[in-house]
Amino acid sequence: MTSVKGFSKLSKEAKIEWIVNNYLDGDEKSIDFLKSYWNEDITVQKLHDEFIENTISNFYLPFGVAPNFKIDGKMYCIPMAIEESSVVAAAAKSANFWLDKGGFITAILGVEKIGHVHFIWNGKDSSKLFTFFESIKEKFYSETIHITKNMHMRGGGILNIELVDKTLEEPNYYQIKAIFDTCDSMGANFINSVLEEFSKILRNELENTNLLTADEKEVQIVMCILSNYTPNCLVRAEVKAKISDLSEREMSGEEFAEKFCRAIRIAEIEPYRATTHNKGIMNGIDSVVIATGNDFRAVEASAHTFASRSGKYTSLTHAEIKDGELRFWLDIPLALGTVGGLTGLHPMVKMSLKMLGNPNAQELMKITAVVGLAQNFSAIRSLVTSGIQKGHMKMHLLNILNQLEATESEKAEIVNYFKDKIVSHSAAVEIFFKIRGIEQPKVVKMNG
Ligand code: MEV
Repeated sequence: MTSVKGFSKLSKEAKIEWIVNNYLDGDEKSIDFLKSYWNEDITVQKLHDEFIENTISNFYLPFGVAPNFKIDGKMYCIPMAIEESSVVAAAAKSANFWLDKGGFITAILGVEKIGHVHFIWNGKDSSKLFTFFESIKEKFYSETIHITKNMHMRGGGILNIELVDKTLEEPNYYQIKAIFDTCDSMGANFINSVLEEFSKILRNELENTNLLTADEKEVQIVMCILSNYTPNCLVRAEVKAKISDLSEREMSGEEFAEKFCRAIRIAEIEPYRATTHNKGIMNGIDSVVIATGNDFRAVEASAHTFASRSGKYTSLTHAEIKDGELRFWLDIPLALGTVGGLTGLHPMVKMSLKMLGNPNAQELMKITAVVGLAQNFSAIRSLVTSGIQKGHMKMHLLNILNQLEATESEKAEIVNYFKDKIVSHSAAVEIFFKIRGIEQPKVVKMNG
């Protein structure tokens, strides 16, 4: 193993050769393998190459769709990019369940995003800094017009700017906290550019003010950055049904609704359960976020901070029984964009957005939240009735069989065998060897 200088400057072929020689035992087959994932259309491949540094190939994720989502009266077929077997199936099942019950209702509860200039000011009297800040505040708007004018034309821009004293938590630490509306873009580049301009304005105005002494003009700009925590870029997705319409096999509607609410309550009070519960919600959210070219890491970070906002990590969904109805809802911060970033570049992202009717950012927030709620409904419905493994393992069966390198006819036979049985890993392996007519080895070596 060796280090390398100037790797990013090498051609793609040379990068692959270097990796194969140094990290893949010089195996020439690895070269063909990596190249087999290149797109045949060189323009498309070039686009992907240029998304990041050091691209050597592409990494596939399944791209599925969940049809029959009725959201605020409109029908959607929702694109989802995810590797986990049962997620799309669960979303589609939930969509069907709610279709004849009025579908999903949504509301945008806010569209604000936040960014900060984090700085250190060593003056003793913070009121002098506040007076100075108020005297120059207007300049933060007027001297950033060159960056904000397009956003203004689209109806957004800077909504508010304030100085925040954080010195109780960290000596001499202050923030310029700014609130933005970034319309249909996620807005990270816009916000960060504005914030960096703010820091220049702050420095410049400090130099020229006569409200502060020479010592009080000293400032250390620590950093200028948006916050991915967007509690006021918030959307609600909701469903409601008559309890009498909720009977499940041998369970009455009342029993189901009560057990369902109890499961949600457990996630509200028990962080261990809340983590798994919210993970299930994010199965749905992330898959739409990825398919639509948005930043799932930002969405994840924000969702979990939001889930901890009371000081204790809790469920993102809630449920109540009221006036003979079950009401079930999700509030989640979703800073999404439908312009900028990958949205106009990645061919599959463009396809996803087209499939959704080219939504604006608020509509995409609503759709994405609905998939999170639908996902959670399916999970809780299974958990409080049949258990999760029945549906999950049924979907996972093909992965097990593919690992065993089962033929298409073996797969069909085994899937049929499990039609009325619960799938387990060991049962699938056992039936596979039985059908193949060979003795099951003590240790079954799974591929990959
Ligand atoms: C699995 O990816 C997600 C679930 O564990 C979610 C849940 O338990 O609510 C099924």
